[in-house]
Amino acid sequence: MNLQVLVLPGDGIGTEVTGEAVKVLRHVAQRWKHSLALSEGLLGGIAIHRTGGPFPDETRALALAADATLLGAVGLPEFDNAPPERRPERGLLGIRQALGVYANLRPVRTYAALLDASPLKNHLVDGADMIIVRELTGGIYYGTPRGISGEGASARAVNTMTYTVPEIERVTHMAFSLAQARRRKVTSVDKSNVLENSQLWRRVVTEVAQGYPGVSLDHMLVDNCAMQLVLNPKRFDVVLTENLFGDILSDEGAVLTGSIGMLPSASIGAKKTDGVWVGLYEPVHGSAPDIAGQNKANPLGAIGSVAAMLEYSFGLREEAAAVNRAIEAVLNSGRVTADLKPAGTPSTTSQVGDAILEAI
Ligand code: IPM
Ligand code: MG
Repeated sequence: MNLQVLVLPGDGIGTEVTGEAVKVLRHVAQRWKHSLALSEGLLGGIAIHRTGGPFPDETRALALAADATLLGAVGLPEFDNAPPERRPERGLLGIRQALGVYANLRPVRTYAALLDASPLKNHLVDGADMIIVRELTGGIYYGTPRGISGEGASARAVNTMTYTVPEIERVTHMAFSLAQARRRKVTSVDKSNVLENSQLWRRVVTEVAQGYPGVSLDHMLVDNCAMQLVLNPKRFDVVLTENLFGDILSDEGAVLTGSIGMLPSASIGAKKTDGVWVGLYEPVHGSAPDIAGQNKANPLGAIGSVAAMLEYSFGLREEAAAVNRAIEAVLNSGRVTADLKPAGTPSTTSQVGDAILEAI
C-alpha cells in the first residue's frame, strides 16, 4: 500500500513525540512492505513564528493532499495573551475544520502494568475500557457570534453553542457503529436539564439509536458523568458527547489510565472515494513546554496515534495490532518515561521509541 502521510510536529514536546512516532511508522512500512511518502508542515506556535499565522495555506494544501496527518501538539506560552487569530490553538481548530473530521475518537483503556500509576484504586480501574466519541467540528468551539466587546469594566464576552440535526446525526452514527464492534452500549452525555442545545442533542441521539436495535443507549448529564468516571469507569463502553464536554471528559478519562501521555486520538469523518478515512491523528496531551527539548516526554500517545492511523485511515489492522501489542510489551518491560515511573531510572523518549521497534 502507498501511505501518504503529513507530519505536523507543532510545538513543545510535539517534535520529540512525533519523531518517535514517525520512527515507528517507517519501521512498520518497511516490515510490511508498504511505501511511505512523508511530508512535513507547520502548525501552531511554530507556524506563527515562521509565517505569521497558526495555520498557513501551505499546511492546508498539504493536509488536503495527504491520506492522513500526524500531529504532535500545539501551544506555546509566549502566545498566552495573544489575540485569538494569533493563538496556536486556532491552527488546530482550523485544520480540524478544513479536514471535516467531525468525530474524535479517544480510547481510554487500562494496562495491567500501569494500574499503580492510576490515581484510582486498582479494583476501580482494572479492566476499564471505553472510547470517548467527541464531536469535533461544531458546538461552542466554532459557534458565532463570538468575541469580546467593550472596554474595561463594561467589557462583555460572548460565545455561542450551536448544533444542527445533521451534525448530531453523523457523529451519533459513528458512535453506534463503533459500539456494534464493542460491548454494544452507548452513553450520550449532555446538559439537557439546562441547555436547549443538549435537549436537541438528546432528541436526535434517541432517534438515531432506533436504527441500532442491538445497541443500548443511556443518557447522562455531564456533571454526573464527570463523577461516574471516577466512581465506576468500568460502566462505560462508548461515551458520545459534544465538543466542549468531550474535551473536558477526555482529559479526565486519560488520567484514569495512569498518564495523559498514554492517550492517542483519531479524528475522522469525511470519507475519501477510495474508501479510506481522511484522518488527523494526535496524542491527547498538550505541548508541555516545561519539559520540551529534554527527551523526557512519553511518546506512547503519539505512537498509539500511529496505530490508530494504520487502522482507520489505511485499514491495516494487522499492523495496527502489532503496534498496540508492542506498546503493551514495552509497558510490561518497564522501559517507560518518568510520568509512568515514580521510582527507578526512567527511559528517555527515544529509548521508548527504540523499545517499541524491538517489540514490533
Ligand atoms: C484537545 C486540546 C485542544 C482542544 C486545544 C489545544 C485547542 O485540548 O485536543 O483536547 O480543546 O480541542
Ligand atoms: Mg483537551
